[in-house]
Amino acid sequence: MSESRVYPVPASFSDAHINAARYREMYRQSIDDPAGFWGEQAEQFLSWDKPWDSVVNADLTIGKAEWFAGAKLNVSVNCIDRHLPARAGQTAFIWEGDNPADSKHITYAELHEAVCRLANVLRERGVKKGDRVCIYMPMIPEAAYAMLACARIGAIHSVVFGGFSPEALKDRILDSDCQTLITADEGLRGGKKVALKANADAALAACPNVHSCIVVQRTGGDVAWSEGRDLWYHEATAAAAGDCEPESMDAEDPLFILYTSGSTGKPKGVLHSTAGYLLQAAMTFKYTFDYREGEVYWCTADVGWVTGHTYIVYGPLANGAISLMFEGVPTYPDAGRCWEVIDKHQVATFYTAPTAIRALHAVGDEPVKRSSRASLRLLGSVGEPINPEAWEWYYRVVGDSRCPIVDTWWQTETGAQMITPLPGATDLKPGSASFPMFGVDLALLNEDGSEIEGAGAGYLVVKSSWPAQIRTVYGDHQRLIDTYFSTYPGYYFTGDGATRDEDGYYWITGRVDDVLNVSGHRMGTAEVESALVLHDKVAEAAVVGFPHDIKGQGIYCYVTLMDGEEPSDALKQELVKLCVQEIGPIAKPDVIQWAPGLPKTRSGKIMRRILRKIAENELGSLGDTSTLADPSVVDSLIENRAG
Ligand code: WT7
Repeated sequence: MSESRVYPVPASFSDAHINAARYREMYRQSIDDPAGFWGEQAEQFLSWDKPWDSVVNADLTIGKAEWFAGAKLNVSVNCIDRHLPARAGQTAFIWEGDNPADSKHITYAELHEAVCRLANVLRERGVKKGDRVCIYMPMIPEAAYAMLACARIGAIHSVVFGGFSPEALKDRILDSDCQTLITADEGLRGGKKVALKANADAALAACPNVHSCIVVQRTGGDVAWSEGRDLWYHEATAAAAGDCEPESMDAEDPLFILYTSGSTGKPKGVLHSTAGYLLQAAMTFKYTFDYREGEVYWCTADVGWVTGHTYIVYGPLANGAISLMFEGVPTYPDAGRCWEVIDKHQVATFYTAPTAIRALHAVGDEPVKRSSRASLRLLGSVGEPINPEAWEWYYRVVGDSRCPIVDTWWQTETGAQMITPLPGATDLKPGSASFPMFGVDLALLNEDGSEIEGAGAGYLVVKSSWPAQIRTVYGDHQRLIDTYFSTYPGYYFTGDGATRDEDGYYWITGRVDDVLNVSGHRMGTAEVESALVLHDKVAEAAVVGFPHDIKGQGIYCYVTLMDGEEPSDALKQELVKLCVQEIGPIAKPDVIQWAPGLPKTRSGKIMRRILRKIAENELGSLGDTSTLADPSVVDSLIENRAG
C-alpha cells in the first residue's frame, strides 16, 4: 500500500467497451439485481437451445450455486458453430511452436472440423455424456480440440498439466475415474523433449479402467504401444466424419474438472458447470481485455491451469476472438522470444504471470528493445501478487508507457476473473488488482468473522454467488463445504488476505493458508511433505514458503531423519528427486535444512509460524516461543539455517 503512483486511463482507451461511469452503473446493477444483470449478459454473450426458468438459485451457507436452471446449450457450439456464418475463414487460434520456425493459423472452420472429428472418435470409443476424459498434453492445438470435443458430446474433461509426473497423473485419473486419456508422444519445450506417452504408460499401469489412450504424434519419437487401448490421433480422426451432432446440455451439467492444491490432503477436483462458467468466461474476456474484433490476443498460460482453460480456450472462443497458443517458454531460444512473437503475429493483448515478468526483467531491457511491440495495446498479469518494481518495468519497458496493465485476481475455484482493473475505466495503482468485476460482491473479514468497513486488512471473502463459482469437489461434496463455506458461514472463503485502501482499491497480500505459490503454480505444503516422508530415512518433514526473487515463493523444507541416519548431500539429492517424481519438476525444493527437531506445541502441533520466520530470515520477529515443548529446538534451527 506504500505505492502511491496512479496511472490514469490513457486517451487511447476513451472508446473502450466500459468507461468509469459505465463500470459504476453496471456494477451497481449487478449487485442490486443479479438476476436482471446476468439474464441480460446471458442473452448478449451466449446462444441457447432453450431459455432458463430462473437465473440464479444459490445459498452460500451450503455452498450451493445454480445458474440458468432449465436452460440448455452446448459449449462447443457457443465457441465454434455460431461463429461460422460470419467467421468461418477467420483465425481462431494462432499456434506458435517451440521452434520459432513453426507456426500456423487455424480458422474457425478448421477448428469446427477438427473438434467434430475427435468428438466422433470419442463417441466411437463409447464415451458418453457425463464420462470423464483426461487430457495430458503439450501446448498444441489438439489440446484445445480435445477440450472442445469433450464439450461437444457432453463428456467432462480433466486436463492434467503436462509437467506433472506419472504419479500425479495417476492420482488424478483415478480420483475422477477417467476411462479415456488423450495425450501426445512427446512434448517440446525450450528445445527439450517431454516424454508424455511414457509418463502416461507409467500412470496407466495402475489405471485398469482406462480403455482408450488417444495419442497425438507431435515429435515422432519412439513410444511403447498397448494394442487395443492405444490409438493414433491422426489415424482415428482421419477415419472419422467431419461433422458431429452436439449434445444439448443442461446449464448446470458439468463442463470440466481441474485439480488444484489445498492446504491439506490430496489435490481437489474443482468442478465447473456449463452455462455459468462459460458466461463469466465470455463476459470477463471481452471487458477486462477490452477485446475488439479481429485483434490478436495472447495468454501465455498452459492449458493445464485454469488460466489456460478460461483465457486461452473458452473466453476468447466464446467471443469469436483470435487466441494465440504458445508451445514454448519465454526464454527460448532467448529472452527476446515473447517480444519477437508479439511483432511476428501483431499481438494486441499480452497476458502473463509475474514470475515470467520478473525473470525477463532480470535479463535486462535489451531483448525487449530489439522488438517494436507497436501492435501492443494492453498488458495483463495473473497468478500471484505483482510487485510494484515488476509492474513498473512491465509498464515502462514492455508497454512503452502506453499500455494499461490489468492485474487480474481470481482462482481455479472462481473460474473467471473476480477483481481486476478495466482498461477504459480504472486508474491503475501498481500492485493493486483494484476493483471487483461485475457481479462480484466482496468483503474483508476480521479474524472473528465481522466485516471490515472502509480501509483495512483482512480475509478476502465473497458474499454472494457468481456464475462461474465452483460447484463441487469431485466425489467429495463435503470437502467443498468444509474448505470454502465453513470458515465464515454464509461467505465463500478465498484463502487469501487482502487490504482495501481509502479509494476502495483491493491489494491481495497472498495466501493465509498452507498453500504455496511457486512461479504461479499452486502447491500445498502438505503435498511436498508427503513426498518427503516417503523416503525411508525421513522421520518427519515440514515445508514452508520463503520469498524468492523470481519465483515469488521458494520451497523451504525442514527434514528430520530417522534415529541413526546421517545427513548427506547425496540424501538431499534423493529427496529432491522424490519430490519431482511424486509431483513434478515444479515441486523441486529450493532449500532442505536438516532439523534434528521441529518446534512443536506441547500437544504436538508443528508451529509453522516459527518455521516460516526462520526460512524468511526474519529472526527478530519469531514471536512467543515459550509455549513450545522444547524451545531450544528453535536456537538449533536458527544456528543451522540453510540457503
Ligand atoms: C491463487 C489462485 C487465477 C488463475 C491462476 C492461479 C493467487 C492469482 C492473483 C493476482 C494476487 C493472485 C491468489 C489466489 N493469485 N491471481 N492477480 N494477485 N494474487 O489460479 O492456481 O487457483 O491460484 O493465486 O493467492 O488464491 P490458482
